Amino acid sequence: TESDALVFFVNGRKIIEQNADPEKLLLFYLRKGLRLSGTKYGCGIGGCGACTVMISTYEPTSKKIMHYPANSCLLPICSLHGSAVTTVEGVGSKKTRVHPIQERLAKCHGSQCGFCTPGMVMSMYALLRNHPDPSMEQITAALDGNLCRCTGYRPIIDTYKSFAGETACCQLRGTGQCCLDKEDVCSSSDKGNQMHSDLCNPEEFQPVDPTQDFIFPPELMRM
Ligand code: FES
Ligand code: FES
Repeated sequence: TESDALVFFVNGRKIIEQNADPEKLLLFYLRKGLRLSGTKYGCGIGGCGACTVMISTYEPTSKKIMHYPANSCLLPICSLHGSAVTTVEGVGSKKTRVHPIQERLAKCHGSQCGFCTPGMVMSMYALLRNHPDPSMEQITAALDGNLCRCTGYRPIIDTYKSFAGETACCQLRGTGQCCLDKEDVCSSSDKGNQMHSDLCNPEEFQPVDPTQDFIFPPELMRM
């Protein structure tokens, strides 16, 4: 019966596993079992972030839905009972609608070979779900488990600056030694102007639209 089965959701789809293998890890379950190959296998030991997904759970005591990023290569599916998993396919796709995180990374050249990109998207997505107006500190902290082998960190950070609720300036700002001193970026209230890469045009960016997010499955709140 469903009462003794493992039940969780992936991108809005209900999964019921009657005899879940206790050794089965979420990464392989997603890639091989559900054919969701957007989540990447980089190191397999929690070191690179290529396999990052978002896990959402309902906390009955606080009555809050919690979202957190997780390395799916380390997560046994048996730990997911009652959780909702979001993968990069659930964040946005060309078939449905790309998410502004994906759109901006692509437009600002934040994706080179693309292998780290789904993980970079998921870490940022989980941050935005918890903090719609994140600080630059929160953004860099959110990405500290994501490695890019092409070392494209600068365009990735530049892209994500466009989501920051505050202006990001280095400590040299105002001394003439900060690269931003040349542009009127720090005083601007227009978030798009915080980009200091000439590679893309922030005016083309779509705004974040929360109606694009999957809702937390109501039945998991009753479990
Ligand atoms: Fe590298 Fe999971 S595959 S952290
Ligand atoms: Fe190649 Fe990051 S774009 S690993």
